[in-house]
Amino acid sequence: MKWREKFSVRSKPEVYPPSEDTWFLTEFLSDFLSRYKIEKGLSGIICEVGIGTGYILICLYLAYPYLRFFGTDISPMAVSLSIENIKEWIPDSNAYFCCARYLDCFNPQNFSPDIIYFNPPYVRTSFDEYIQSDSPIVRTWAGGPSGVIPVTKFLDGLHRFKFKYAFFLSSSLNDNSDIMRYTQFHIVEMARKKIEGEQLICYQATPRS
Ligand SMILES: C[S@@+](CC[C@H](N)C(=O)[O-])C[C@H]1O[C@@H](n2cnc3c(N)ncnc32)[C@H](O)[C@@H]1O
Repeated sequence: MKWREKFSVRSKPEVYPPSEDTWFLTEFLSDFLSRYKIEKGLSGIICEVGIGTGYILICLYLAYPYLRFFGTDISPMAVSLSIENIKEWIPDSNAYFCCARYLDCFNPQNFSPDIIYFNPPYVRTSFDEYIQSDSPIVRTWAGGPSGVIPVTKFLDGLHRFKFKYAFFLSSSLNDNSDIMRYTQFHIVEMARKKIEGEQLICYQATPRS
């Protein structure tokens, strides 16, 4: 059974609804977690940047209730909707949601997640549309002229944190060479999925030692 048939959450016009990219990343992370053993001594913490409706985080929480889940979103509407959605599916959840840019609400000194992931705004747009759009929904998908401006900003802050695995999405239509220039990280393609007119790509960023 596909993810979209298994599970649904409430949406709102201003919040990015679960879509092909959401299901692709959910499937990738769910497969990854089923292979990945939370070893003794690791934090057991999973952190999502840009939670939207909370769909991915809630799917993973339902499957792995013993892990600790944290989520951020720049949109207050996304954060309040995620809280509503998680209350419906997991009334006694202890997930923590925060309205913030990227990982800005966490202190790198005392927050070391095992896994960080981000389904970013990744659609190529003009620079003006990227920075000046008044529409909350446009801001959920506008990625600027390269399509990867939000990803590069995410990577700019990521190196301050100790983490084991970081994953993010992009599209085959983007200028992904901008991502590869990050010398602090080794960036590797992990999975790819063809959808209408493009391929979604899941990358892993590993700190270079
Ligand atoms: C493509 S949507 C993905 C939503 C959800 N994770 C999903 O897969 O359905 C991108 C999300 O990232 C959020 N976002 C955009 N820029 C952000 C930033 N700088 N920090 C945190 N969240 C951000 C948007 O508000 C939006 O909810």
